[in-house]
Amino acid sequence: MNAYEPPHIPGLELPGPTFAVPAPQPVPAPEAAVATDGTPGPGGLDWRALAAELDREGVALTPPLLSPEHCATLRDLFDDPAAFRSTVTMARHRFGEGLYRYFSYPLPALVQELREQLYPPLAQIANDWARRLGQPPFAPSLDGMLAQCSAAGQLRPTPLVLRYEQGGYNCLHQDVYGDLIFPLQVAVMLDRPDEDFTGGESVFVEQRPRAQSRPVVKRPVQGQGMIFTVNHRPVRSARGWSRVALRHGVSAVHSGQRHVLGVIFHDAR
Ligand SMILES: [Fe+2]
Repeated sequence: MNAYEPPHIPGLELPGPTFAVPAPQPVPAPEAAVATDGTPGPGGLDWRALAAELDREGVALTPPLLSPEHCATLRDLFDDPAAFRSTVTMARHRFGEGLYRYFSYPLPALVQELREQLYPPLAQIANDWARRLGQPPFAPSLDGMLAQCSAAGQLRPTPLVLRYEQGGYNCLHQDVYGDLIFPLQVAVMLDRPDEDFTGGESVFVEQRPRAQSRPVVKRPVQGQGMIFTVNHRPVRSARGWSRVALRHGVSAVHSGQRHVLGVIFHDAR
């Protein structure tokens, strides 16, 4: 069941379809992570490698998912209030310094496509994790996931764009919006590090049981996606599998503007 009309936002005219993700395979053959012609999009992602990296680190970088033009489109959309259901001034909540805006339904076509197409292979990884942790499985498609969210009273869209200016940062946090949590999310860098902005590193901190926390810093280029753990992932322990929590944030932007698209797969209460 798809509860959404075909997404369309005036001003965001995209040639469609923009990309296609191959049907996820439990054990896909290793292949080039990016199309040889350099075409952006999630097609051709090496999900086996990404799953291994997520198991190991809780964070994995994809090849570019969006072209510079698509990045510019989403960045420009930030200034169109009609595209968003709400705006959060981070300082007001002591979340950091910056603004973020949650899209309204229907999502812009580009965001909807990314969310729909990234979900099935991510659900396979999430279901491996759920099995290890003895948790119920997630729906294999985004429609199924959103139907479960709806039943849990989580109806508001969570995809968002964040904007940081000089001095902007984001405190370490987890994007939990209700009882139902899909354990992976994707953030796509919309600007060019060291050209459009400086500083503003993507920071992740893994809280290991009975051990000190482990920091991870990622520097995605424009269009590149970071897949990471929303709340926790299974890690092997002496007694089988333990939960290891991950929080994420952004270090201070030194100059320029930094925009990121956040794709979260569960909706919000
Ligand atoms: Fe976040």
